[in-house]
Amino acid sequence: MRYEKTQKIMNQIVADLTQAHMVVHQHHWYMLGHRFIKIHFYLDHVMEELADQQDEVAERLIEINGSPISTYEEVLALTKIPDRKGNWELSMDERLELILQAYKQLRDDYEEGIKITAEEGDDSTNDMLIGLHTAIEKRIWIIAAELGERPGRGE
Ligand SMILES: [Fe+2]
Repeated sequence: MRYEKTQKIMNQIVADLTQAHMVVHQHHWYMLGHRFIKIHFYLDHVMEELADQQDEVAERLIEINGSPISTYEEVLALTKIPDRKGNWELSMDERLELILQAYKQLRDDYEEGIKITAEEGDDSTNDMLIGLHTAIEKRIWIIAAELGERPGRGE
């Protein structure tokens, strides 16, 4: 089948974007303490970005004759981002660190997708994934900077 590997990685990306959105929502709800007012509302923008990317990737997947996952069961079976119950005990920085880890998983997914779409010759999807990857890297820089870290690569 044409674009078979592309379709597979696109569903991986949909799963991880969906899970990342849930993780961000959890911390948006459960956070307490210093910087709440700033970070709580900042995370609205983060969720908007994740939801927009999820829709864009799923719709592109349909355009190349694929079928996007669309149930929580499928998301949980596929996602590489840990699913943890919400708790009130984490510090603000621990929450940002977990969000950063989710974004680093998305960065890795997009990098794999960029490689696979190049191999399979799907130039339009390749171009789209590069743009989305750039936005993810920008968000990694911003969240890492808030934590006093450099964005870092390969860790
Ligand atoms: Fe909210």
